[in-house]
Amino acid sequence: MATLQYAESARRITDAAQIATILAPLGITLQTIPVTGGRAAALLAQPQLDAEAQVALLTALDDVFQRLQREKGYQERDLVVLYPEHPQLPELNARFHRMHTHDDEEVRYIVDGEGVFGFVLEDGAQVELTVQAGDYVHIPADVEHWFRLNDAQRIKAVRYFSARGGWTPHYTDRALQHFPNP
Ligand SMILES: [Fe+2]
Repeated sequence: MATLQYAESARRITDAAQIATILAPLGITLQTIPVTGGRAAALLAQPQLDAEAQVALLTALDDVFQRLQREKGYQERDLVVLYPEHPQLPELNARFHRMHTHDDEEVRYIVDGEGVFGFVLEDGAQVELTVQAGDYVHIPADVEHWFRLNDAQRIKAVRYFSARGGWTPHYTDRALQHFPNP
Protein backbone atom coordinates (compact mmCIF):
# COMPACT_ATOMS: atom_id res chain seq x y z
CA MET A 1 0.00 0.00 0.00
CA ALA A 2 1.43 3.33 -1.03
CA THR A 3 1.82 6.34 1.28
CA LEU A 4 2.03 9.98 0.20
CA GLN A 5 3.95 12.46 2.35
CA TYR A 6 4.21 16.24 1.98
CA ALA A 7 7.60 17.94 2.42
CA GLU A 8 8.26 19.82 5.67
CA SER A 9 5.10 18.28 7.12
CA ALA A 10 3.86 15.36 9.13
CA ARG A 11 0.93 15.00 6.75
CA ARG A 12 0.68 11.44 5.44
CA ILE A 13 -2.00 10.09 3.14
CA THR A 14 -2.69 6.37 2.76
CA ASP A 15 -6.08 6.48 1.07
CA ALA A 16 -5.53 5.22 -2.48
CA ALA A 17 -8.32 7.31 -4.00
CA GLN A 18 -7.00 10.48 -2.35
CA ILE A 19 -3.45 9.76 -3.55
CA ALA A 20 -4.75 9.18 -7.08
CA THR A 21 -6.60 12.51 -7.02
CA ILE A 22 -3.50 14.41 -5.85
CA LEU A 23 -1.24 12.85 -8.52
CA ALA A 24 -3.76 12.86 -11.39
CA PRO A 25 -2.97 16.43 -12.59
CA LEU A 26 0.62 15.26 -13.27
CA GLY A 27 -0.66 12.27 -15.25
CA ILE A 28 0.83 9.87 -12.69
CA THR A 29 -1.16 6.72 -12.06
CA LEU A 30 -0.82 4.17 -9.29
CA GLN A 31 -2.43 0.75 -9.31
CA THR A 32 -2.31 -2.29 -7.07
CA ILE A 33 -1.36 -5.55 -8.76
CA PRO A 34 -1.01 -8.33 -6.19
CA VAL A 35 2.33 -10.15 -6.54
CA THR A 36 1.54 -13.75 -7.44
CA GLY A 37 3.31 -16.55 -9.27
CA GLY A 38 4.27 -19.93 -7.87
CA ARG A 39 8.04 -19.65 -8.02
CA ALA A 40 8.12 -15.96 -7.24
CA ALA A 41 7.77 -16.19 -3.46
CA ALA A 42 11.03 -18.06 -2.84
CA LEU A 43 12.95 -15.76 -5.18
CA LEU A 44 11.45 -12.61 -3.67
CA ALA A 45 12.55 -13.71 -0.21
CA GLN A 46 16.21 -13.56 -1.23
CA PRO A 47 17.81 -10.11 -0.98
CA GLN A 48 20.16 -10.76 -3.91
CA LEU A 49 19.46 -12.68 -7.13
CA ASP A 50 21.98 -13.88 -9.68
CA ALA A 51 21.24 -13.50 -13.40
CA GLU A 52 19.56 -16.89 -13.67
CA ALA A 53 17.34 -16.21 -10.66
CA GLN A 54 16.38 -12.80 -12.09
CA VAL A 55 15.23 -14.41 -15.32
CA ALA A 56 13.27 -17.00 -13.32
CA LEU A 57 11.57 -14.25 -11.30
CA LEU A 58 10.68 -12.21 -14.40
CA THR A 59 9.26 -15.35 -15.99
CA ALA A 60 7.18 -16.08 -12.88
CA LEU A 61 5.75 -12.54 -13.10
CA ASP A 62 5.20 -12.52 -16.86
CA ASP A 63 1.41 -12.68 -16.74
CA VAL A 64 1.59 -8.98 -15.77
CA PHE A 65 4.03 -8.23 -18.63
CA GLN A 66 1.85 -10.04 -21.16
CA ARG A 67 -1.17 -8.01 -20.07
CA LEU A 68 0.79 -4.77 -20.31
CA GLN A 69 2.10 -5.76 -23.73
CA ARG A 70 -1.48 -6.16 -24.93
CA GLU A 71 -2.87 -3.07 -23.24
CA LYS A 72 0.05 -0.60 -23.42
CA GLY A 73 2.37 -2.01 -26.04
CA TYR A 74 5.42 -2.34 -23.79
CA GLN A 75 8.03 -4.45 -25.49
CA GLU A 76 10.73 -5.14 -22.92
CA ARG A 77 11.09 -5.58 -19.19
CA ASP A 78 13.91 -6.08 -16.77
CA LEU A 79 14.41 -6.32 -13.05
CA VAL A 80 16.09 -3.91 -10.65
CA VAL A 81 17.38 -5.60 -7.48
CA LEU A 82 18.88 -3.32 -4.81
CA TYR A 83 20.04 -4.37 -1.36
CA PRO A 84 22.26 -2.79 1.31
CA GLU A 85 25.50 -4.41 0.11
CA HIS A 86 24.92 -3.61 -3.58
CA PRO A 87 28.25 -2.25 -4.86
CA GLN A 88 26.70 0.58 -6.91
CA LEU A 89 24.17 1.70 -4.31
CA PRO A 90 25.77 5.10 -3.47
CA GLU A 91 26.30 5.85 -7.17
CA LEU A 92 22.75 4.90 -8.12
CA ASN A 93 21.31 6.91 -5.26
CA ALA A 94 23.33 9.96 -6.31
CA ARG A 95 22.09 9.54 -9.87
CA PHE A 96 18.38 9.34 -9.12
CA HIS A 97 17.94 11.27 -5.85
CA ARG A 98 17.99 14.52 -7.85
CA MET A 99 15.14 16.21 -9.66
CA HIS A 100 15.06 14.87 -13.21
CA THR A 101 12.91 14.03 -16.20
CA HIS A 102 13.12 11.41 -18.94
CA ASP A 103 12.15 11.54 -22.61
CA ASP A 104 10.14 8.37 -22.09
CA GLU A 105 7.69 7.27 -19.43
CA GLU A 106 8.91 5.54 -16.26
CA VAL A 107 6.93 2.42 -15.41
CA ARG A 108 7.68 0.36 -12.32
CA TYR A 109 6.04 -2.65 -10.69
CA ILE A 110 7.36 -3.07 -7.17
CA VAL A 111 7.50 -6.75 -6.26
CA ASP A 112 9.56 -6.67 -3.05
CA GLY A 113 10.83 -4.09 -0.57
CA GLU A 114 10.09 -0.37 -0.81
CA GLY A 115 11.11 2.69 -2.78
CA VAL A 116 10.32 6.40 -2.65
CA PHE A 117 9.36 8.54 -5.66
CA GLY A 118 9.21 12.30 -5.31
CA PHE A 119 7.07 14.71 -7.35
CA VAL A 120 6.29 18.42 -7.62
CA LEU A 121 2.59 19.25 -7.57
CA GLU A 122 1.12 22.02 -9.69
CA ASP A 123 1.16 24.44 -6.74
CA GLY A 124 4.88 23.79 -6.19
CA ALA A 125 4.41 21.54 -3.17
CA GLN A 126 6.73 18.55 -3.12
CA VAL A 127 5.50 15.09 -2.16
CA GLU A 128 7.11 11.71 -1.72
CA LEU A 129 5.26 8.52 -2.60
CA THR A 130 6.49 5.41 -0.79
CA VAL A 131 5.69 2.34 -2.86
CA GLN A 132 5.74 -1.29 -1.75
CA ALA A 133 5.28 -4.76 -3.20
CA GLY A 134 2.16 -4.79 -5.36
CA ASP A 135 2.32 -1.09 -6.30
CA TYR A 136 2.49 -0.32 -10.01
CA VAL A 137 3.41 3.28 -10.84
CA HIS A 138 3.39 5.06 -14.17
CA ILE A 139 5.16 8.43 -14.56
CA PRO A 140 4.64 10.12 -17.95
CA ALA A 141 7.56 11.44 -20.00
CA ASP A 142 8.89 14.89 -19.00
CA VAL A 143 7.34 14.85 -15.50
CA GLU A 144 9.85 16.04 -12.89
CA HIS A 145 10.57 13.40 -10.25
CA TRP A 146 13.25 11.77 -8.15
CA PHE A 147 13.74 8.36 -6.60
CA ARG A 148 15.45 7.09 -3.47
CA LEU A 149 15.48 4.10 -1.22
CA ASN A 150 14.38 4.31 2.39
CA ASP A 151 16.45 3.07 5.33
CA ALA A 152 15.80 -0.59 4.53
CA GLN A 153 17.67 -0.11 1.21
CA ARG A 154 15.91 -3.06 -0.35
CA ILE A 155 13.75 -3.19 -3.45
CA LYS A 156 12.92 -5.44 -6.37
CA ALA A 157 11.11 -3.69 -9.19
CA VAL A 158 10.20 -4.69 -12.72
CA ARG A 159 10.78 -1.93 -15.29
CA TYR A 160 8.68 -1.95 -18.45
CA PHE A 161 9.89 -0.26 -21.60
CA SER A 162 8.51 0.86 -24.88
CA ALA A 163 10.94 0.55 -27.80
CA ARG A 164 11.78 4.24 -27.77
CA GLY A 165 14.52 4.27 -25.14
CA GLY A 166 14.85 7.70 -23.55
CA TRP A 167 16.13 6.66 -20.14
CA THR A 168 18.89 9.21 -19.64
CA PRO A 169 17.96 11.46 -16.68
CA HIS A 170 17.76 15.15 -17.60
CA TYR A 171 18.49 17.07 -14.39
CA THR A 172 16.48 20.16 -13.63
CA ASP A 173 17.62 22.98 -11.36
CA ARG A 174 14.86 22.59 -8.82
CA ALA A 175 16.02 21.87 -5.25
CA LEU A 176 14.47 19.10 -3.22
CA GLN A 177 12.68 20.08 -0.04
CA HIS A 178 13.24 18.22 3.20
CA PHE A 179 11.41 14.99 3.90
CA PRO A 180 11.60 12.95 7.08
CA ASN A 181 12.66 9.41 6.20
CA PRO A 182 9.60 7.15 6.16
FE1 LIG B 1 13.53 8.65 -13.20
